[in-house]
Amino acid sequence: MLDPEIDFLNHGSFGALPRSVSARQEEWRRRVEARPIEMLGRRCRELLGPAREAVAGLVGASPADIGFVTNATGGINAVLRALPLRAGDVLATTTHVYNAVRQTMRFVARQAGAEYRELPVPPPFAHPDAIVDAIDAALDERVRLLVVDHISSPTAVVFPVERIVARCRERGIDVLIDGAHAPGMVPLELERLGAAYYAANLHKWMCAPKGCAFLWTRRDRQAHVHPATISHFLDQGYATEFDWQGTRDISAWICAADAIAFMRGLGLERVMAHNHALATWVQAHLCGRWGVQPLTPLDGSLLGSMATVRLPSAFQPGGPFATFESINLALYERFRIEVPVVEWQGVRHVRPCCQVYNRPEQYERLADAVLALARSGADAARS
Ligand SMILES: Cc1ncc(COP(=O)(O)O)c(C=O)c1O
Repeated sequence: MLDPEIDFLNHGSFGALPRSVSARQEEWRRRVEARPIEMLGRRCRELLGPAREAVAGLVGASPADIGFVTNATGGINAVLRALPLRAGDVLATTTHVYNAVRQTMRFVARQAGAEYRELPVPPPFAHPDAIVDAIDAALDERVRLLVVDHISSPTAVVFPVERIVARCRERGIDVLIDGAHAPGMVPLELERLGAAYYAANLHKWMCAPKGCAFLWTRRDRQAHVHPATISHFLDQGYATEFDWQGTRDISAWICAADAIAFMRGLGLERVMAHNHALATWVQAHLCGRWGVQPLTPLDGSLLGSMATVRLPSAFQPGGPFATFESINLALYERFRIEVPVVEWQGVRHVRPCCQVYNRPEQYERLADAVLALARSGADAARS
């Protein structure tokens, strides 16, 4: 459904909806509007059952451990806001944390008189072991919960979550994984992974309608977890509570099953392999064109379906672009390229995303546009 006038290199922010899944969602909306009491009042749980089973099958989990939420932010809020925290406890994450999650953690820590802490995981990211060691070295006995990204937003690094969870289990620390980008980008086996909590979006890389996400919680942690919006079914079962969070449009959740069927129809493994190969090429190619150092190994071993690439020096703070947002806008307005521009640890980058509708020439146009902007920015600065 994307506008062909735009080079859309930002699948990662909000996903993109296949026409067939959109049509299914419209159909469900029509059915609900035709019989609101029957569909929402009496049959809500029954309608969500097949969707929950499809999600559980996709991520290697039991349906009873899957709670629907509107987005990963909502899932993370559900965990953090129900966490029994005491003054002096530490809520920890890494310097790669997504800003909305950072704000939630800061809020929750502040309310409890706890400490919010960002553990440094500095570049270059050469090997997964170095990431695990950097995190492990900064943990201590006051850390109550570690929030770690599966695929980080600003840096697009695939974190070695299996090893991080294992290390934290040895130390008795619970882990909440922010898997906002994971379904559809990397294979998932949540039960085997064994984190305490896993929040993820289906509206990004699984191409479900917007507002389709889930929170998986390990059985032994379910008693204290509730949706951020508590409604009628408090303490009546994990999935039951999440199914009803007040009156809302449930069509996106129902359509999780359709989105999964659509992606399986394309060949989910093939899609992931294609996107990963394209992201690996994009990283190497842009680094070469712009003469910058890669953030992660050029063999793509720490990448999924997107890559974060440092922008040339003309774009860095102190240059002609006052903010990183102005770079994003210039690429969009002058070149019709939609690509995330991020500033991380004081350095500006782009984070092109790779989905099956993207073509190599689109990244070539990005490479040219950035070089053209660097020239015109330098001219403007001189005049
Ligand atoms: C790592 C990470 N966490 C959380 C989110 C938030 O996702 P949502 O807005 O769907 O809650 C994002 C969105 O890009 C993300 O990249």
